[in-house]
Amino acid sequence: MKDALDWLEKHHETIVRGLADLVAIPSISTDGDHQTEIDRTATLTCQQMREAGLLNVESLKVGNSLPYAYGEWLEAPGKPTVFLYAHHDVQPVTHIDQWKSDPWKLTRRDGRLYGRGAADDKGAIAAFLGAIAAYRKTVNHLPCNVKMVVEGEEEIGSKNLLKFFDVYQEKIRSDVIVVCDTENIEVGLPSITYSLRGIVAVLVEVASAKIPVHSGMAGGALPDAALALNHILGRLYWNHGPLPIPGLYDRVRPLTEKERAAFRKLPWDEEKFRREIGMLPTARFAMESGLSAYEQTWRRPSLTVIAQEASSIKGASNQVLPAASAILSCRLVPDQKPDEVIEQLRAFLTADPPWGVEVKVTPLGAHCDWWITDPNGPAFEAAMAALRAGFDRDPVAVGCGGSIGFVGPLSALFSGAPALLLGIEDPASNAHAPNESLHEGDFKKLMASLIHLFDHLGKLSPERVK
Ligand code: BES
Ligand code: MN
Repeated sequence: MKDALDWLEKHHETIVRGLADLVAIPSISTDGDHQTEIDRTATLTCQQMREAGLLNVESLKVGNSLPYAYGEWLEAPGKPTVFLYAHHDVQPVTHIDQWKSDPWKLTRRDGRLYGRGAADDKGAIAAFLGAIAAYRKTVNHLPCNVKMVVEGEEEIGSKNLLKFFDVYQEKIRSDVIVVCDTENIEVGLPSITYSLRGIVAVLVEVASAKIPVHSGMAGGALPDAALALNHILGRLYWNHGPLPIPGLYDRVRPLTEKERAAFRKLPWDEEKFRREIGMLPTARFAMESGLSAYEQTWRRPSLTVIAQEASSIKGASNQVLPAASAILSCRLVPDQKPDEVIEQLRAFLTADPPWGVEVKVTPLGAHCDWWITDPNGPAFEAAMAALRAGFDRDPVAVGCGGSIGFVGPLSALFSGAPALLLGIEDPASNAHAPNESLHEGDFKKLMASLIHLFDHLGKLSPERVK
């Protein structure tokens, strides 16, 4: 292991160059216009897998999916097999004027590596391959078996991933899952995520008339669809209380006393949080009274208007608008049921419409379920020990307010294999936003931790991992 750790130190610049090569390709999956680039990152990931020493590397597809990169090393018979997951697609670049350097050119600044996808999630590809290469280029063999899957459509909801798992289930079957696509809650503090929120979205369409009408003629008589929509949305506002949707909290699993005590011990700095989320000075937090930000964002449902349309400001004219629409997205927590939440939203949004306007609620896209696990047992102990060694700091078990839909189903497919979600981002990473970055020190520590993790897992028998 010492050799592998030394190799990592010595070859750090090469690893960063590999990440820079990935970042240089704008593999944006959200707009449908970058298929070629996504093909290129799949090919490059395959090439980097081969260079790191993975075998049987290939680019795979299911149906009309975007390409997955797959590679394995299975020459440790009797040892556990570790499934490594990352994604090579990225979010688009918006607010280009706010970027301080070219989003597609990995740029080192203040101890961080800037670029779209540097953290979410190309950094994870580089981290896994760094740790694998460190073993293969020194002692040649890994302490355990690995199967690595790098997806190309995570940012658009992983709509073929479950099919991929189904089609290739024998090929990918593993004893333990490692995912690097979540956050360390503070730079330097290794965090293992043991809960994720789920997500559903609905399109709300309000209509009052067949055509827009001159407001000088019908203003005051014809119901204004934009105002009606916003009146309905306004009913969701609940100052420091729970959301006013009947039944929404019926199944919400409360924190255990143990979790509550553990959350209380996590580092917390309100001013720092305000800064990180860019909140303006006059704005107050929207938290439910008495809840910590951790409980609120990790273990309570939330609603966000992620889009709204009536008429563009640019094209505005004196008309009463006949139609308006919005997309509402709702984060789910244990033990809510996605379909039930959609019905609760529908009932709330369609009840008693202002002026009797038509309100239509349509579920949008594939929803994804929440996930929670017990962060105990041999695999978690191995991960804790590995992170302690890599970061020289006691790791913490945390929740995540975001969603990674496959973790639950994949763990079930592997007969309850433990899923270890190791942090790669941190609160300053700006995933999905301008100036996305990876903390270079934590990136090194994560790779060192992975070297330790492979070693610890290699000391367990496949049956003992669970
Ligand atoms: N890496 C994120 C998940 C995440 C979010 C981690 C927040 C840490 C903090 C992941 O890539 C992501 O963005 N997931 C989407 C899933 C959606 C497309 C179904 C999300 O949470 O919106
Ligand atoms: Mn993401």
